[in-house]
Amino acid sequence: MKKLLICGINGQLGSSMRRVFSGSFEVYGLDKVADGNNVFACDITDREKVFSIFEKIKPDVVINAAALVNADLCETEKELAYKINYEGNNNLLTASKSFGSYFVFISSYYVFDGSRVEYSEDDIPTPINYYGILKWVAENEVLNYEKSMVVRPCKIFSIGYDERNFIARVYNSLKKGEEFFAVSDQYNNPVLADFISESIKELIKQKAMGIFNIGGKDFVNNYEFAKLFAEYFNLDSSLIKSVSTDKSSQKAPRPMKVKLLLSKMESKGVRAYTLDEMFKMIKL
Ligand SMILES: NC(=O)c1ccc[n+]([C@@H]2O[C@H](COP(=O)([O-])OP(=O)(O)OC[C@H]3O[C@@H](n4cnc5c(N)ncnc54)[C@H](OP(=O)(O)O)[C@@H]3O)[C@@H](O)[C@H]2O)c1
Repeated sequence: MKKLLICGINGQLGSSMRRVFSGSFEVYGLDKVADGNNVFACDITDREKVFSIFEKIKPDVVINAAALVNADLCETEKELAYKINYEGNNNLLTASKSFGSYFVFISSYYVFDGSRVEYSEDDIPTPINYYGILKWVAENEVLNYEKSMVVRPCKIFSIGYDERNFIARVYNSLKKGEEFFAVSDQYNNPVLADFISESIKELIKQKAMGIFNIGGKDFVNNYEFAKLFAEYFNLDSSLIKSVSTDKSSQKAPRPMKVKLLLSKMESKGVRAYTLDEMFKMIKL
């Protein structure tokens, strides 16, 4: 069985991938804290530690899902963001090159500014916040390595893997009977963590190279997204309130409308799902 190293394995996407890849790969992981068998405590900014783990595992495939994901924090803590999202990724990429591992980098739809609305893999990135800039710089470095793939997911959601993602926060607020404020002028095509994991698994199986957008079928704003989720699960959707970006507490500029086009992913036999189809997969 091939050896897979998931970096950021305790996070939202990392823990989904851990479950989805088990059985098909010998799964190893690293994150800030160790967690059971085969998961090593390793800060990806520590190059020596990264190399020592590669030496132990000699992974065939490496997926980097470890990052400082909070765009506002990246904007105010640029040095930290650079260390993790650029240097950390560079350490994993350099180790992958030395060990001949196939490297998969998880980028983001935040590489675009949103002015064109619809984006294919061929569109040139135009990031408007520091998080997006670092993703783009890292992407370029990754794509210079011949055994690599860059995955650009839209907004990721899940229940059970992570308490900080948008839908988990909506769910936790509504369960407590608290109001939830969601911006109604930022649009994207959200995707369930498990579907990204399944899609990446299929793309790896096909030894896909280059950039792949991964998203859902429905293009919605965050307010509509929260409402649809609440209505699907019979939660009190009247607690969801609409707010505009200029009145929100977000510090980093955001792309207002990014619809990732999915025909490249679909050409590989990976189909996109509607929100209803993805909600159906969630067990509350
Ligand atoms: N969430 C989204 O909507 C979204 C959308 C598009 C792209 N992405 C990208 O998708 C990937 C996965 O996102 P996610 O939602 O799964 O994020 P997440 O839940 O925050 O997972 C990231 C994991 O990496 C860990 N980590 C952070 N810094 C690290 C370091 N220096 N060394 C080792 N581990 C470190 C985190 O630990 P701590 O939690 O302790 O910090 C966490 O366990 C990221 O690359 C993100 O940029 C996310």
